[in-house]
Amino acid sequence: MTTPRKTRDPKSLRDATRLVHGGSLRSSFDETSEALFLTQGYLYDTMEAAEARFKGDDPGFIYSRYSNPTVSMFEKRMALLEGAESARATASGMAAVTASLMGQLKAGDHLVAARALFGSCLYVVEELLPRFGVASTLVDGTDLKQWRAAMRPNTKTVFLESPTNPTLEIIDIAGVVKIAHEQGATVVVDNVFATPLLQHPLKLGADCVVYSATKHIDGQGRALGGVILASEAFIAEHVHTLLRQTGPSLSPFNAWVMLKSLETLPIRVGAQMRSAEKIAEFLAGHSRVANVLYPGRADHPQAALARRQMKGGGTLVTFEVADGKPAAFKFANALSVIGISNNLGDAKSLITHPATTTHQRLKPEARARLGITDGMVRLSVGLEDVEDLIEDLDQALNLLAPGKRRAAE
Ligand SMILES: Cc1ncc(COP(=O)(O)O)c(C=O)c1O
Repeated sequence: MTTPRKTRDPKSLRDATRLVHGGSLRSSFDETSEALFLTQGYLYDTMEAAEARFKGDDPGFIYSRYSNPTVSMFEKRMALLEGAESARATASGMAAVTASLMGQLKAGDHLVAARALFGSCLYVVEELLPRFGVASTLVDGTDLKQWRAAMRPNTKTVFLESPTNPTLEIIDIAGVVKIAHEQGATVVVDNVFATPLLQHPLKLGADCVVYSATKHIDGQGRALGGVILASEAFIAEHVHTLLRQTGPSLSPFNAWVMLKSLETLPIRVGAQMRSAEKIAEFLAGHSRVANVLYPGRADHPQAALARRQMKGGGTLVTFEVADGKPAAFKFANALSVIGISNNLGDAKSLITHPATTTHQRLKPEARARLGITDGMVRLSVGLEDVEDLIEDLDQALNLLAPGKRRAAE
């Protein structure tokens, strides 16, 4: 008889190895690549077996709205990467954000959130939750005094993203956690811009991390998905039943796409970040660029905090051209390699003008308060050769009149 081969505990392996092997379930066919289980339901041998499954005495699958082997592999791989006890996948990033907040809150509760949130998250916080009797307060997330002042005895949770969209401000996650926990509130962090490789909110004390897997996790512009990561207790208390009964489930096909994408996440994010660093440096020296915001640069307003909290500056660079919207449009319309799109984290480099797209819904005063100017563009750096990207940016910038540096204004 042959002895079964030893397998390493995935927790003892490094990120890149876990992202290739972690969470794999092998079927009786012994496939090398994770299988796509496109099934809605599961058969039971007997009525007794069905009864035991429903009672929870037998841990198998019941129905794919609840769980599915391919989705479960994706959840396990994400949990290993994040260092979370538990993970639940969702149909989109917004389903993850909404479930992580609604699962914790009830009428009469209060939520504090950073003002600089992705637009749909802002809708959930400012419009959806108040309809169900949950009050919310928005603060300047970079000012810990404002977080402290906003806390009330009925504050149940706080919500933030860092770096923020599109100004790439950094919020002190450990500082916010301290304030929230002193009041008995939980902390939910949308970690999309940082990616699971560059920032670990759970290690900084957060209670829950959410992702739009649509972004760097898929990374190739194909599938929508989301994921919620937290302790077993948090998921059991706040997330599990809500997802099971309301049904924002990730499709097995999308889970399979994400699972395969995770294998290359470190290579992709690493390459995109190295290009983003070079592009930020190029832009900072360009006469037509008024201001560059990149958390990995020494001239970022919160460079020290970014260094403490993140393992790198990420894959997005935000910058301003002088002369506002006409100049931003002229420049972006002249790009021939970089595409115009509001998506991010893609293999393809994409540029967007936040004031007229992602943040168009906001009043001009609200945009000004977030530091979003009419000349600001956000670049999501992809996997193209960085020299081609720099050439593309350079030829388009050179069509603009030389502007003033922002600091000199
Ligand atoms: C920071 C952030 N959070 C959440 C979302 C929502 O994700 P999805 O589009 O997958 O619902 C997005 C992007 O769309 C985002 O950029």
